[in-house]
Amino acid sequence: MLKGHREVLVSRETIAKTVAEIGAAINRDYDKNPDRPLVVISLLKGAMVFTADLIRTLNMPVRLEVLVASSYGDGTVSTRQVNVKYQSFDSLEGCDVLLVDDITDSGNTLKAVGAYIQQYKPATVRYCSFLDKPSRREVDIKIDYIGLDIPDEFVIGYGLDYAGQYRELPDICVIREGDAQ
Ligand code: IMP
Ligand code: MG
Repeated sequence: MLKGHREVLVSRETIAKTVAEIGAAINRDYDKNPDRPLVVISLLKGAMVFTADLIRTLNMPVRLEVLVASSYGDGTVSTRQVNVKYQSFDSLEGCDVLLVDDITDSGNTLKAVGAYIQQYKPATVRYCSFLDKPSRREVDIKIDYIGLDIPDEFVIGYGLDYAGQYRELPDICVIREGDAQ
């Protein structure tokens, strides 16, 4: 549990406004062909709360898929290996794919999942991340839709966890060294 006061970095009101802005941008960019749904792939678990809000702002047909990626299998940050542990789709051939994540830090996760997706021969792949820590980037990746840039702080809430906890918080809060016990 967290000791003491939690500092809100992004309020639920700002979250709602930001999700609506991302949705409006996606609505502008994609056509509304009912025979060609937008395939939204949510990177679980972190992106599930954001994805649930985002798809309800879209005014085009959506096919929802999920993917679970694990990075740093042994729990250390010494390796940057990203593995796909589970994914829900059989085919993406000729599809417009939107990969949705909660936060982009080094960029390794989105880059690796984007490369993995290519074997399914999608027509297009775009990237969407609710939060971005641009100062932490280690790889070159263009993220098409970013909600908010944040400083290099560890954040929880709105799907984001600390050791599996706090995903249910409606606001995004900062957690600093020493806050957790
Ligand atoms: P990347 O592969 O380094 O870009 O890391 C992205 C993943 O790391 C995200 O999908 C999150 O699961 C996790 N992550 C990065 N920063 C934070 C944070 O501040 N809070 C919670 N999870 C984070
Ligand atoms: Mg994640």
